[in-house]
Amino acid sequence: MGEVDPAFIQEPEHRPRISYIEGKGVPLIDLSPILSSSNVSAIEFEGLVKEVGDACKEWGFFQVINHGVPLEMREKIDGASRKFFAQSLEEKRKVRRNEKEVSGYYDTEHTKNVRDWKEVFDFTIDEPTIVPASHEPDDTELTEWNNLWPEYPPDLREICQEYGQEMVKLAYKLMELIALSLSLPADRFHGFFKDQTSFIRLNHYPPCPTPELALGVGRHKDGGALTILAQDDVGGLEVKRKTDGEWVRVKPTPDAYIINVGDIIQVWSNDRYESVEHRVMVNSEKERFSLPFFFNPAHYTMVKPLEELTNEQNPAKYRAYSWGKFITNRKCSNFQKLNVENLQIYHFRISE
Ligand code: OGA
Ligand code: NI
Repeated sequence: MGEVDPAFIQEPEHRPRISYIEGKGVPLIDLSPILSSSNVSAIEFEGLVKEVGDACKEWGFFQVINHGVPLEMREKIDGASRKFFAQSLEEKRKVRRNEKEVSGYYDTEHTKNVRDWKEVFDFTIDEPTIVPASHEPDDTELTEWNNLWPEYPPDLREICQEYGQEMVKLAYKLMELIALSLSLPADRFHGFFKDQTSFIRLNHYPPCPTPELALGVGRHKDGGALTILAQDDVGGLEVKRKTDGEWVRVKPTPDAYIINVGDIIQVWSNDRYESVEHRVMVNSEKERFSLPFFFNPAHYTMVKPLEELTNEQNPAKYRAYSWGKFITNRKCSNFQKLNVENLQIYHFRISE
């Protein structure tokens, strides 16, 4: 292999360290108290709510076990993903994302204008998903996003749809725990997701000859409400630890999901729960697969701090912004390398 394309090379201060810290890692939370089969005491349940609240506050990230998603479903989608990515580039590009359809296959994503060492396949949960036609603030036209399903493997579509429904179920349960941890009614967030714009991404990170220069995904925060990630046993996800700003690796735990708070929860909670930076390291030997589910509200959601969580002493730290305009801005700026920074929630921050 020749020289690595400079588009992939990170600025020196953002390059990964090849030796990494595994020290005090993200909390591991056992969700068995919320499995429908469990007979749980009020004390146990409150303990769980507190664990979730503490993890959101101190880390913005946690792993869950006993989450109720059948392992078989995860294995099925993982298998289908491996089969899809093993095809030739020509085959994969038949379902390539384009200006109109933002889902599908894609191998040139940029994070903060540096190219990521990965290829992806995206699909939305709702088919079609309704969104604004453009990110221009005054344009009120709406459009549909439709999924581009590949021919191979033939069962990929069904497997993905089934898995998507499991993710939605788990996401609602997690949002209930998060709501309770903020002293809100359990279903406080449910209404926002009625016409959700959630999507799942199948990620494939091929081996990289220069893992010290590139990243699978550059440092970023997730823009949506909540992310539920399945990673394989290779490892590479790193989270910026809030206590000291060190990058710490999230150790692969069999059958666990990694949960992280996105920017929307940060805004809803008026900064009680902050969305945390993370990135993915690649390595020269092994390919890696991961499957994030991004739980996103309806396009017409005006995202702003919840009234219950603000008052005179603690005024709203953000102006309301349109989620639909935010997501369409992101989708079009990630599609091409732009010379402007893409939209971030701090653009809506009210200066103190
Ligand atoms: C993402 C992401 C992590 C991973 O796609 O937003 O952070 O492990 N992925 O693939
Ligand atoms: Ni992410």
